[in-house]
Amino acid sequence: MSKTLTEKILASHLEEGTLGNGNPIGIHIDQTLTQDATGTMAYLQFEAMGLDRVQNELAVSYVDHNTIQVGFENADDHHYLQTVAAAKGVVFSRPGNGICHQVHLERFGKPGKTLLGSDSHTPTGGGIGMIAIGAGGLDVAVAMAGQPFHLISPKVIEIRLHGKLRPWVSAKDVILTVLERFGVKGNVNCIFEYTGEGVQTLDVPERSTICNMGAECGVTTSIFPSDEKTRAFLKAQGREEDWIELRADEGAVYDDLFEIDLSAMEPKVACPHSPGNVVTVASLSGKRVEQVLIGSCTNSSYADMKKVADILDGHTIAEHVSLGIAPGSREVLLMLSQDGSLAKMIASGARILESACGFCIGNHQSPGTDGVSLRTSNRNFEGRSGTKSGQVYLVSPETAALSALSGQFTDPLSSHGIAFPKVVQPEQFLIDDSMFIFPPENGSDVEIFRGPNIGDPPKNTPLKEDLDGFVTIKVGDKITTDHIMPAGARLKYRSNIPVYSKFVFEPVDEHFSERCVENQDRGKDNFIVAGASYGQGSSREHAAICPMYLGVKAVIAVSIERIHQNNLCNFGIVPLTFEKEEDYTRFDQNDELVIENIAEQIKGDRVVLKNKTKSREITLRCDITEGQRAMLISGGLLNILKEKA
Ligand code: F3S
Repeated sequence: MSKTLTEKILASHLEEGTLGNGNPIGIHIDQTLTQDATGTMAYLQFEAMGLDRVQNELAVSYVDHNTIQVGFENADDHHYLQTVAAAKGVVFSRPGNGICHQVHLERFGKPGKTLLGSDSHTPTGGGIGMIAIGAGGLDVAVAMAGQPFHLISPKVIEIRLHGKLRPWVSAKDVILTVLERFGVKGNVNCIFEYTGEGVQTLDVPERSTICNMGAECGVTTSIFPSDEKTRAFLKAQGREEDWIELRADEGAVYDDLFEIDLSAMEPKVACPHSPGNVVTVASLSGKRVEQVLIGSCTNSSYADMKKVADILDGHTIAEHVSLGIAPGSREVLLMLSQDGSLAKMIASGARILESACGFCIGNHQSPGTDGVSLRTSNRNFEGRSGTKSGQVYLVSPETAALSALSGQFTDPLSSHGIAFPKVVQPEQFLIDDSMFIFPPENGSDVEIFRGPNIGDPPKNTPLKEDLDGFVTIKVGDKITTDHIMPAGARLKYRSNIPVYSKFVFEPVDEHFSERCVENQDRGKDNFIVAGASYGQGSSREHAAICPMYLGVKAVIAVSIERIHQNNLCNFGIVPLTFEKEEDYTRFDQNDELVIENIAEQIKGDRVVLKNKTKSREITLRCDITEGQRAMLISGGLLNILKEKA
């Protein structure tokens, strides 16, 4: 029978279950990646499993998120990451080497392999023909231990590309069009598979831009075939031997189809505060811009940066605009410095930022009050930039560079007088792996450094007979992991759960954690009530770990995003959804709730809850796998692993 590319790779990695029909499956993971914001917890959890070495083909630890904050915490955490990598057989990518997804694509990604990363934009690897999935740190730790990764057998949606992009229209505009069609919710347990003759007109970095932002639709991942373009990219990276040809069979059957004519695409922009708020750039033409930031794992390849340099060449940015440019990797930065592009950028008035996440995660470059910021990154959630009133718009590098010059939204297809930057994929990248530290054959002599910021992963207790407590917070739709567990200035506490927990829901309600502690002190449980798409955004498992630490026992929502639902189960928090959506309106903050015999009830897919304050019974759904049920009953995945050990 003809197979999709997704089915082929999943079938060749299948370890548990049967593919199709939404069945729960377990797949073997070939490669893992972590970044520093999620990595410390992942390696602490891996250490807790008691294994000497990672068991999979390749594990890489990147330091790219928190590279420039003040205080000892980050430096100590990076020291821990470096030493634990050497001890356990993990490749360490030093700060300055670049953003995990860009660097992984350049140096390690291989067609046909599976990659699990503790970062939600791990699907970037789909651009090179991998099944690359974002997950919580604990899931990645388990994969490093050689255990299968569990997921729901996905629906495969074909996105068929026709034609060829016009000059000034780019891969970012393609994925913004996909977001316009699919939105940011309701696409869980789906994979976008790109097909059609338009695929061969796109280079690997362009394909990766498209896969990267598929994450915003909530899909499990996105994937492109591996073809001559893939081979050319790998050859230019000195890795032609890693190439294999991979594509769907003729006549493969998909669950859905969306066709895109690349030739008819227009420059697009995602408006505040959701990547799904997509309009044309032309519709905002002339709107004043105060800040432009170019970079992030979405748009920081050599080709992206070279285009920007050529647009800026010989021009000066508008005097009311601050332009920051962060090349995605040291490889890209070196190439730009050697071909004169860096000089063009600097001459235009751009500020060259470190090859790291930086602005994307709100670590610096926060816009001014109500400031309009154009960014090439992938998320524009309220407050993520570090300025609550900041107005962040997501655009292509072309739109960003032109708008930095004019000081206003500029449609690249309008007559702006700048010559089109025709950039071709280089035949040879500048390869220099000296900022990787490869682990010794035997790491048993390596002393693992632990600074005072590093705590043990918190423990949870098995599920109680009855849950009995209060709605500690009621929130609306589209609550992101940035709302639950703020990054930015707070991220340095990521390895110290008692301290980081004080900031849970800080952007929404700064007294949440105090109320949780008060309830805990009087022997009561905490419940979170939420609207649709709760936990969207990043793979940040701290958005489950810290609430667990504060005694949150259940999240009751209209819907919960895939990675966050997994993280909740991993840490023993029961994910529940309303059987009738309108029941959301029947809860208020401080309502007293009871769920009797919870362990028994979650054996089925319905759970009855009593709202004592409203004197009502409400039926909830508990759509979880057998494995997740076992985790919840034991108080989380770590407890299960310990029981097995
Ligand atoms: Fe980093 Fe932003 Fe990507 S935080 S990994 S550049 S989404």
